[in-house]
Amino acid sequence: MRTVKDFRQAKGKRLVYLTAYDYPTARLAEAAGVDAILVGDSLGMVVLGYASTVPVTLEEMLHHTKAARRGAPDTFLVADLPYLSYATLDRALRAAERLLKEGGADAVKLEGGEEVAEIVLGLTRAGVPVLGHVGLTPQTASQLGGYKLQGKRPEEAERILRGALALEAAGAYGVVLEMVPALLAKEIAERLSVHTVGIGAGPHTDAQVLVFHDVVGLYGEFKPRFVKRYLEAGALIQEALSRYAAEVREGVFPGEEHSF
Ligand code: KIV
Repeated sequence: MRTVKDFRQAKGKRLVYLTAYDYPTARLAEAAGVDAILVGDSLGMVVLGYASTVPVTLEEMLHHTKAARRGAPDTFLVADLPYLSYATLDRALRAAERLLKEGGADAVKLEGGEEVAEIVLGLTRAGVPVLGHVGLTPQTASQLGGYKLQGKRPEEAERILRGALALEAAGAYGVVLEMVPALLAKEIAERLSVHTVGIGAGPHTDAQVLVFHDVVGLYGEFKPRFVKRYLEAGALIQEALSRYAAEVREGVFPGEEHSF
């Protein structure tokens, strides 16, 4: 199992993060040898069917973090602090305490740049490993104009860079860069000494992360441009379920070989 120290020394190492939210997918991710599992609050959308990550509660994050940990006992595991659970340092410490102690997470992730740097400092001073997240921050996507590329305008790019630097200064062990131009991600990766984890941020970040359901084709028809589908599992599963239903209706299943 990798440690926070390994991730602190991960500059340029091209590490692989993947989301997982339950026992079977975490098992598969560990068997596939990913470097880190992220129990992201994307859970709310791809597993719980919410329209955004905003409704996700700490209890839901805990429930799924515990399940993912049971599936991947030997993989570094990061859990998202859900929306507003880090609005104050006190709340952030309590939420992180539960995710680390009860959930079995190794680190927590939270969204925002300069505006959350104080909270990140408080957490890291208390000994909580923190992964930052700038660019498109889904918990506040509506304030950013939706799920859109961030940092196209120079002042926006400057704000994102300042945010990443502030997170590093506050002790974050790495920073996720979501949906920013590849050249901005490259500049940030070059300016930071901690590793950057890209999603929709081009090829120059130190590590990559994708959402499991996007990778295997389990979340609807829409595929963001930055996603590569490695499998159409949704279509395969639906096909299998239709065959099962047809065989039951036709009296083909269960057969002799399934009977006692
Ligand atoms: O919640 C999540 O899955 C995330 C990743 C997309 C980085 O924050």
